[in-house]
Amino acid sequence: MVTNANGSVNGSARSWARGPRRDAAPAAAEPAGSATACPVAGTLAALRAGLDPGELSQYVRAFVEQLLDAGVENEVERDGYLTQLLGAMQQHGYPRLRKADLRDMFARAARDRQSATGTQTQDSVGPAAGSWGAFAEPPPVAAGVVPPAGWHVSEDGVFQVGGGAGGGRGGEPLLVCPVPVVITGRLIDAEGGQESIALAWPRDGRWKPKVVGRAVVANKSKIVDLAADGFPVTCETSGKVVRYLADFEAENIDRIPRETVSPALGWVDDTRSFLWGVEQLRPALAESGAAVVLFQGAEAGDEQVARGFHAHGEWEDWRTGVLPFLELPKIRLILTASLAAPLLGVLGVPNPIVELCGETSGGKTVALRGATSCWGNPDERAQDAAMSTWDTTRVGAERMLAVINNLPLVLDDTRRARDSTLVNQIVYDVVAGRGRTRGSPKGLQGVGTWSTVLLSSGEVSVNDQNEKGGARARVVSLWGSPFGAVTGETGERVKALNRTVLAHYGHAGPRFVRFILDRRGEWPTWKERLEAVVREYTQRAGNNAILNRMADTFAVFALAGELAAEALEIPALARRPVDELWGELSGEVREGDVPTRALRCAYDWAVSRPKNFFSPCRHESDREQPHDGWAGRWDATTSGWAFLAYMPHKLAKVLEEGGFDSGATVRSWKDKGWLQTAPAGTHQQHRVEGAQVRLVTILRTALDLLGMTVPSGGGLCQRPDAAGGATTPSGSRDGM
Ligand SMILES: Nc1ncnc2c1ncn2[C@@H]1O[C@H](COP(=O)(O)OP(=O)(O)O)[C@@H](O)[C@H]1O
Ligand SMILES: [Mg+2]
Repeated sequence: MVTNANGSVNGSARSWARGPRRDAAPAAAEPAGSATACPVAGTLAALRAGLDPGELSQYVRAFVEQLLDAGVENEVERDGYLTQLLGAMQQHGYPRLRKADLRDMFARAARDRQSATGTQTQDSVGPAAGSWGAFAEPPPVAAGVVPPAGWHVSEDGVFQVGGGAGGGRGGEPLLVCPVPVVITGRLIDAEGGQESIALAWPRDGRWKPKVVGRAVVANKSKIVDLAADGFPVTCETSGKVVRYLADFEAENIDRIPRETVSPALGWVDDTRSFLWGVEQLRPALAESGAAVVLFQGAEAGDEQVARGFHAHGEWEDWRTGVLPFLELPKIRLILTASLAAPLLGVLGVPNPIVELCGETSGGKTVALRGATSCWGNPDERAQDAAMSTWDTTRVGAERMLAVINNLPLVLDDTRRARDSTLVNQIVYDVVAGRGRTRGSPKGLQGVGTWSTVLLSSGEVSVNDQNEKGGARARVVSLWGSPFGAVTGETGERVKALNRTVLAHYGHAGPRFVRFILDRRGEWPTWKERLEAVVREYTQRAGNNAILNRMADTFAVFALAGELAAEALEIPALARRPVDELWGELSGEVREGDVPTRALRCAYDWAVSRPKNFFSPCRHESDREQPHDGWAGRWDATTSGWAFLAYMPHKLAKVLEEGGFDSGATVRSWKDKGWLQTAPAGTHQQHRVEGAQVRLVTILRTALDLLGMTVPSGGGLCQRPDAAGGATTPSGSRDGM
């Protein structure tokens, strides 16, 4: 069907292809319209088969507008025209529309028109080629950037116009996109040199920016994926949209700003600026024209990680709320560790780990939130949080590490980890400072490196999760409540701090980074200061191997505290928490009740299965080795018993099943004097069924001291071998 040869048809078609109420040419101006009684005769005649749904709805809308243009308000008259429209549509094989829907559309258009009467005259003649159509809020494009030739862009969308290859079907303007889309920038990857395109389109009343890979906008099947972001593209229009964007870029290639993007946060542009979330922090006296670097996630989810780093509430409120807690050395330590993150890269210090260990309700989570609040949203339950929990996967943690660079990685509660292997792997990844090599369709990718401090919490130490970890070196473990003794008053204060940091965050960190940026010239002297503190701590550590290995970690925290005290005008931060915590950090003092609970676990297991332990005082008829071997030796005598001795491998299994790290547990029991050892320090030897074996020998005195045994009468073998089988203590679950 050929409809475009006739000028009038073409005219009316133009008005519908353009669609917009304001620049639609009134039907009265159409030669056909002015001469006949029917104001939409030309438009009806212009209808043809094969319009896609978008085009068809534009057509219907334009039809309604024309009726309004012609002043049709009478319902009967209106219904008559609508019936004609339905008939014409049916004739061309389109699905039947409901008349009621058409009436609604008519009423809506009439209302819109009424409310827009004030602005109706502006732009009644379409804009000139190469300039923007009507916009309430102009497109966020650089000066001189214009719509490409062959395209018309206004608030009503992107239209393909003009004849030849650029024209729509039959040369009339063709709606390609129901909202305008513009290119605001070209982005070059800071590392790999890959290119991306920054797009913007109106969404919810503002121009929504979105950076996409260049390959995406060049491919009509890939560009459809952007629909998930609210990008107005369908598989029907994708080809045209790709074409439009290509034309747009070609037309404006010299005027579209070129920017550099980074897939990771932290230091960029040769440590001349810092990406704190999506914001680029620069020195106060940045040379004009300094490189603009934007964050651009390499993979889905990366942007969400970056979004956690933003500010909320007031800096002064944060400062006043946090200040009183800086008296507490553990809070000061975790806070300076958090602030130290950007310094690690500058000073070349390896990645440290600081963990809060101890029982539930000790304020560990609140303390981690406090540390996180320097940088961003500390609500680990929020979508855009700068803090997470251990309930992640190794890949998830690696994504976080790839993005969170020169900023702290905060993971709350190791109990939430799927297993202890995962904790070890992530600790290993942090300490290694680089990811595993991963193949990806884009090539060899993801051998990311990261400089960060891991702040963690858990009931047990990440070091105690497993013994193999080479990570042991740099974990600073703080045991017990970081807020000190558990009292009701402290509880209230902890809650108040929690409220403060959930409402006011993301101020201290960026302030500190700006301070660092502004003092670039002093960095070499900072290095010297750091080295001096390292020497100081090394000397103080003497031959304590743990403290010796920690010297550079302690030193960078000390320096971070001193610098932050100046940057944030909080003198309390300059006092070194490590000095106050020295005894505890040396590993001599360990609060927390993990060894005790582990002991209870081991004892309870034995109590529930006494017959699994070899006992020479039990009658031979009642001494049958369990199918998986003896668990150890537990002597039963009339005078009670002196020790409970476990086969090391059996104890390990029992403890691991109870969620404890066996190696660390046995070590701590030994340290506490709960075990009987041979003079050489090895496990005590015992005879089990004729063989001499070394067993982990738990002293009854330790169990008594901790109140685990029932005083007189509850122990094993109070009524010894006399009556066979009576060796089972009361409450035994044996034989179940
Ligand atoms: N030292 C303390 N004394 C009294 N109450 C405390 C103390 N530390 C924490 N709490 C209370 O425990 C609550 C939970 O704190 P949270 O940080 O979730 O503990 P955790 O993460 O160690 O389980 C806090 O809101 C606070 O009321
Ligand atoms: Mg917690």
